[in-house]
Parts: sequence; structure tokens; C-alpha cells
Amino acid sequence: MAFSQKIKQLFTSPPKKNNWDGLIEAYKTWLPVTKKTPIITLKEGATPLIEVQSIANRIGKGVKVYVKYDGLNPTGSFKDRGMTMAISKAKEAGCEAVICASTGNTSASAAAYASKGGMRSFVIIPDGYVAQGKLAQALVYGAEVLAIKGNFDKALNIVRELSDKYPITLVNSVNPYRLQGQKTAAFEIIENLGDAPDWLCIPMGNAGNISAYWMGFQEFFQAKKAKQLPRMMGFQASGSAPLVEGKSISNPETIATAIRIGNPVNKEKAFIARESSNGKFSSVTDSEIIDAYKILGKEEGIFCEPASAASVAGLLKTKDEVPKNSTIVCVLTGNGLKDPDCAIKNNDSVFHTGIDAELNSITKIMGF
Ligand SMILES: Cc1ncc(COP(=O)(O)O)c(C=O)c1O
Repeated sequence: MAFSQKIKQLFTSPPKKNNWDGLIEAYKTWLPVTKKTPIITLKEGATPLIEVQSIANRIGKGVKVYVKYDGLNPTGSFKDRGMTMAISKAKEAGCEAVICASTGNTSASAAAYASKGGMRSFVIIPDGYVAQGKLAQALVYGAEVLAIKGNFDKALNIVRELSDKYPITLVNSVNPYRLQGQKTAAFEIIENLGDAPDWLCIPMGNAGNISAYWMGFQEFFQAKKAKQLPRMMGFQASGSAPLVEGKSISNPETIATAIRIGNPVNKEKAFIARESSNGKFSSVTDSEIIDAYKILGKEEGIFCEPASAASVAGLLKTKDEVPKNSTIVCVLTGNGLKDPDCAIKNNDSVFHTGIDAELNSITKIMGF
């Protein structure tokens, strides 16, 4: 190609984000896909890493704090990273239906990707413990929703048994392709920062995501794309903290329903991530979670769901241990719009109702 043509192409080619074809396309050499794999994508991934000065200011010591806002994925949570892989591989294997147990986000994501891939989806959820937005998503995306009288751990046992007995693919994070897809978030962080952060703060439920991030950080480190590995700092809600307490919890309770899990299936992998990264697992109370949730909304313009705010709550709780001048990334796993009930109950804003529809009444309230 002539030099002038090359220059022309350079200036007329669209910006990279318009070319984003989803994370499998972007990272296919790092993922277990072949030319034969049908890629089922909703263009997930490439989510923003946003600096949050209000959190850094509360810590001081010259730290830089970022949030990986994975709630901006197509169905509003990090689950889409794993689901594009799990559903693509299920399609490749000729599967016609998928199933999952869910605290809400997995069901939304599984339903959306199954529909895109032309498959049926069945989701089993704990009755009354799934945020409204997530339930709405699963129904709109066309899942068959079964709400059981029991918690997530019971639902997971049931779907494991069903997928063993019947021709239906399990797409919970015990499916290894889920973690493969989710590890790409670590790749993106390294590419954005030019290296891995010093700390990675992340909420834990079934502990698949922390295990996936650790895999991603290690792979880029071994490939010399990062000079260091982060400390993996995992946080659970105090009423639902089996990994912190080192034992299963039979009746987990927390406002952060997404991480209301008493017996995490990926616990062994999570413990390896903690030990090999010199990391730490701690718990945060529901009121600490809500404080972080409010700060992110009111001071940063970032609306995440309560489970996600556990990563920031955990960082603020352990701020005395943060090394000077360190770089920290907190993972915001889900979008705040998923749980409107929680948002309306937990904010410090003023909501005036029943106002006469005339200028005088309104200006009076506004203080003019
Ligand atoms: C919003 C949100 N954050 C965190 C988690 C926990 O992720 P993991 O189960 O991989 O630990 C979940 C799991 O459902 C979730 O939906």
C-alpha cells in the first residue's frame, strides 16, 4: 500500500471503541476458543477504570484509587464476561438449554446470552431474595424462572444434580469457561494502568471472580505484560462471610443479596489466590457497605449495587494497612439500577412529594 494511502487509512479508521467486538475477539489467544467456536457476544468487556478521588482522599498517603466499573457490561454485571465464554462453548458442544442457580446477576446474564445463542435457559433463584431489576431482566430475556423456598446454596445443589442427570449445561462459576472469560477484567486493568495495581479489592460470594482475576493477573505477569502481581483483598458481608470465618454459614444474611452465599464453591481457588498473593479476606457490615454505596453515588456519580460497594467499604475499613503511594483497584461488579428498592431506601437526598404544579410552590421549596 502506498504511503499516502496508509496515512489516509490511519486518519479515517474509526476509534478503537467502535471496533470492539467483545472480549473473546479481543483476547482469543488467551482463551480456550478455536475457529470452530461460535462466538455468542453482546460486546461485553472494555469497561472503564475510573479514578475515585473521594475515596483516595479518605485514605491519604498519596494513594491512587480506581474502580473497575463492570456494572457497565451489557446486562449490568461482570457475569457477562464469563457468560459469553460459557454460552459460546455450550453452543459449540451442541447444547440446546442451560441452567443456573443465581442470586440474580447470573440469571440475567445466562438468560440474555442463551437467547442470543438461540438456547433455552432455566434459572433457579431464592424466592424473595433477588433484586427486582435482576428478576425483571431474567424474565424479559426469556428465561424460565423457578423461585425456590431456600437460599442460593440449596439452589446450586439442585442445578448441579439436574445438569448431571439431564442434557442441560450448567453455567454457574463451577463451569470453567466462566472463569476464563472473567479473567479478562484483569487483562484490561493491566492494559489501562500499564501494570497490575498494588491491591485488588473485590467482593466475594461464590469466589469465582476473585479466582478468575488471580488467574488473569498471573497469566499477564508470566507473559511479562505486568511487572508485578497485586495483593488480592477479598471482602464479604459480615452476615455472610464463610471465607473470612473459615466455615460454611447455613443462614447467610446481608443487604447485599448478590453475595448472600454461605458455602462458596470456589473456596479452594480463592484461598490459593489469597495465599499466593499475600492477600487478605475481611468482612464489612451492611452499614459500612451502604456508607460506601452512598459515597460512590453522591461524590463520584457512580451507581453500583450494594454487593459491589463491599469492595470500597473493605478498602476504607483497612485503610491503615494501605502502603504509601500505592495504586488500588476496587471492582464494582454490578450496576446500581439492578436494585432500585435498596437505592430508594438508602440515600441522603431530599425527595419532596405532593407539590402543587405551580411555580410559586416549587421556587419556595427550592429556596429562591
Ligand atoms: C454484583 C455481584 N458482586 C459480587 C458477586 C460475587 O462474585 P463471586 O460469586 O464470583 O464471588 C456476585 C455474584 O453473584 C454479584 O452478583
